[in-house]
Amino acid sequence: MTTPRPETLAKLTPVLTKRWLSPDAWRIGTYEKLDGYAALRKALKAHPDDLIQLIKDSGLRGRGGAGFPTGLKWGFIPQGDGKPHYLVVNADEGEPGTCKDLPLMTHDPHALVEGVIIASYAIRASRAYIYIRGEAVHAARRLRNAVREATAKGYLGRNILGSGYDLELVVHSGAGAYICGEETALLDSLEGFRGQPRLRPPFPATHGLYASPTVVNNVGTIASVPYIVLGGADWWKTMGTEKSSGPMIYSLSGRIANPGQFECGMGVTLRELIELAGGMQPGHNLRFWTPGGSSTPLLTAEHLDVPLDFEGVAAAGSILGTTATQIFSDQDCPVYATYRWLEFYHHESCGKCTPCREGNYWMVRVYRRILAGQGTHEDLDTLLDTCDNILGRSFCGLGDGATSSVTSSLKYFKQDYLDYIEGRTAPRLSDKQLVGA
Ligand code: NAI
Ligand code: SF4
Repeated sequence: MTTPRPETLAKLTPVLTKRWLSPDAWRIGTYEKLDGYAALRKALKAHPDDLIQLIKDSGLRGRGGAGFPTGLKWGFIPQGDGKPHYLVVNADEGEPGTCKDLPLMTHDPHALVEGVIIASYAIRASRAYIYIRGEAVHAARRLRNAVREATAKGYLGRNILGSGYDLELVVHSGAGAYICGEETALLDSLEGFRGQPRLRPPFPATHGLYASPTVVNNVGTIASVPYIVLGGADWWKTMGTEKSSGPMIYSLSGRIANPGQFECGMGVTLRELIELAGGMQPGHNLRFWTPGGSSTPLLTAEHLDVPLDFEGVAAAGSILGTTATQIFSDQDCPVYATYRWLEFYHHESCGKCTPCREGNYWMVRVYRRILAGQGTHEDLDTLLDTCDNILGRSFCGLGDGATSSVTSSLKYFKQDYLDYIEGRTAPRLSDKQLVGA
């Protein structure tokens, strides 16, 4: 393991992660000692419209993957419409490789609860939900405890801190379907239906939960809000880049010495992140990586100096996504990795639309053939043609995301496919594994 140089260590900007090393920060007493609920006291003295403007001024963009401007989204909520408004936190973190929201909710649940209260006040919602992934049992327990503690202290419930503002917050556990992380499927699930995406537009901002105006934001987005309220928009913009402001939690996994979460200003590079993580594992050289989970096109060792912000990654031909950087080495096979991701998408496809339901099914079968040493050159055209029929023709982002690793691995690592097809690489799957996709 190598030691990071001081100039690289200086890239770490612990903001959302700053309380993670305090063992008791999940308890309200410790949280309060560490500035907890100070932002809420400040926010409740401000006009809701001024809070929306503050978030707009900070340039905060959604941390769930798409990077939509948060203040703009809040500003879409119609005012004086007589309808109830809702805030829904998307805590259904399920993108393979992504693990930034789970530690946040486990170590610092009150930061999310405080952010929920401020955001709900800003959009004039009196009911909010945290929709948490079903498997995240421990984090859900911590969140429910935080809601109980906050209610007992008067931060939630009726007449919060004597301000006249009321808010009820419900923590709802999902049932383990990846598709319920898609915001409209999540809303269907919350309403008690089978979680399947709805047609957008209309967007949840006008037709969301129970057909009412709803803001759906990621955990990291909402947990950023108290810091912006306390530190101000200008301070927030001192971190990150002009168009991608603030700090971001990058999750590093795979062939590195010290996997985990590293919070840095947006625009840090993978070269710097690997250095912060103690370097590659001994004997491994970087070969390919995902900048933001398995739905984002693969990048290679040529892209070590790409700034990891929304614009920088897009210019390199990929998507920043959830900043889940999964790192693979020269001892890993891009064909096999892509096959494993495709199996995931095939399994998680909700089946609503044909391109994703059928396309992923067929692509899994083609990959199995190639990996069993029975592929043909035509199979590579079939894969690209299938991706062409999924991308942009699917009902939701799951279909598009499934094609990312297929097209990018064929772009950068076609030779690896040919090596299986032409018999230079030994088959990785047996004949028995060819059937049953
Ligand atoms: P999107 O770009 O369609 O929408 C982003 C947000 O902006 C949504 O909340 C949407 O309602 C809102 N929005 C967009 N245009 C709007 C308009 N004209 N009016 C009102 N609101 C508008 O992206 P989408 O499909 O919601 O998310 C895709 C991203 O999710 C991908 O980039 C992927 O990285 C990420 N993702 C994250 C996962 C996780 O576990 N965190 C899992 C899978 C994907
Ligand atoms: Fe369902 Fe896939 Fe279609 Fe999305 S793209 S609606 S997950 S079948």
